[in-house]
Amino acid sequence: MLTKAPRGTKDITPKDAYKWNYVENKFREICSLFGYEEMRTPIFEHTELFKRSVGDTTDIVQKEMYSFTDKGERDITLKPEGTAGVVRAFIENKLYADTQPTKLFYITPCFRYERPQAGRQRQFHQFGIEALGSDKPSLDAEVIALAVQFFNEVGLKDLAVSINSVGCPTCRAEYNAKLKEYLDAKSDVLCETCLERKDKNPMRVIDCKNPTCKENLTDIPFMVDHICDDCKDHFEKLQTYLKEMDINFVVDKTIVRGLDYYKKTAFEIISNDIGSQSTVCGGGRYDGLVEQLGGPKGVSGIGFAIGAERLLLTMENNNIEIENPYATDIFIVTIGDEAKTKSFKLLKDLRTNHISAENDHLDRSVKAQFKYSDKINAKFTIVIGDDELANDTATLKNMSTSEQITIKLSEIVKELKTRL
Ligand code: HAM
Repeated sequence: MLTKAPRGTKDITPKDAYKWNYVENKFREICSLFGYEEMRTPIFEHTELFKRSVGDTTDIVQKEMYSFTDKGERDITLKPEGTAGVVRAFIENKLYADTQPTKLFYITPCFRYERPQAGRQRQFHQFGIEALGSDKPSLDAEVIALAVQFFNEVGLKDLAVSINSVGCPTCRAEYNAKLKEYLDAKSDVLCETCLERKDKNPMRVIDCKNPTCKENLTDIPFMVDHICDDCKDHFEKLQTYLKEMDINFVVDKTIVRGLDYYKKTAFEIISNDIGSQSTVCGGGRYDGLVEQLGGPKGVSGIGFAIGAERLLLTMENNNIEIENPYATDIFIVTIGDEAKTKSFKLLKDLRTNHISAENDHLDRSVKAQFKYSDKINAKFTIVIGDDELANDTATLKNMSTSEQITIKLSEIVKELKTRL
């Protein structure tokens, strides 16, 4: 047990860490192209924040949160998603008083007590953005375009973008009444979860995976067919903007999303190749959330989050290779104690000149040092022994071409600078 990480968590070892760095850097780069700046919020928040934003009746709040009471008797939860904390921070730091919109991005671990499987963990990571302060559909289009460009730039060109409108409080209330009437008539065929959802949050019934429910609800009414003129206009404009950018999308009426704060636009980006955990990105508009959490009235917002584990899995399944940028420039093979001692000056000179350099730490034989140098893919190797020290010269070997040159020890840095 001591040597096993908790279920649903994973170590990211050097074998993979460079891949994480690559996608994180790419995400930062794309966010910056679109004018989004980084926001870092705490890993834990008051439990109430998630109850009020994600929603009391959602699976996340009811079943999946890592909640505890701290030593000061506060109810605390490890963040199950990034939006709530960012909106809280937006209010607390009065970012709404700056020129709007406020465009933020984040990279954060999240925690959900779910059944682990490929692409689904208990500690996972989200790359997200939140754009606050405009209710215009042009911002929705920008948010989706950013996600699409990011996926394209990491080599994923064929992901499906699905959009939907989940209405606003005005049209949702009317639709919910209609939906409830429909579901009441089907009460005898609904699963237990749907029976509960029917009264608390009827739209979530659409998300049910139970085959009996699916079979019996084929004519279920969808929100997008009942949206008001304002929501319709918003949804149509968004589609016009997406078409203008040649972004392929489909309208998927079944998207309801598992979090309660969504209004109007909801969207998902799906990959077909990681089994049931195919949603690599989910997002939508959350007008009203800022006010609901105690901020000023009328501040809208929209954003998305990409699951980093799912992103990397999808890239792997699409045979997208990420090159490990780290390679040792030079390995110094030393023979004897004096050479080892003297090699430290050379190592220091190399490293301060930003040439990556390593030496032996296990008192290996010369042969074994060469083997190690091969293993770490050192571009150059140099051997230093008593003779080399006495003559101030050594042999520098290019490991890929096997070319060797004799060189003064004091000139190695200069020589390597021209060759690397
Ligand atoms: P979400 O759909 O709950 O939305 O999560 C976003 C993404 O996080 C999912 O599409 C998935 O890729 C990843 N994800 C979720 N749960 C797990 C898990 N257990 N293991 C691995 N990956 C997971 C949100 O969280 C919203 N806050 C997104 C948003 C931002 N909406 C507006 N702004």
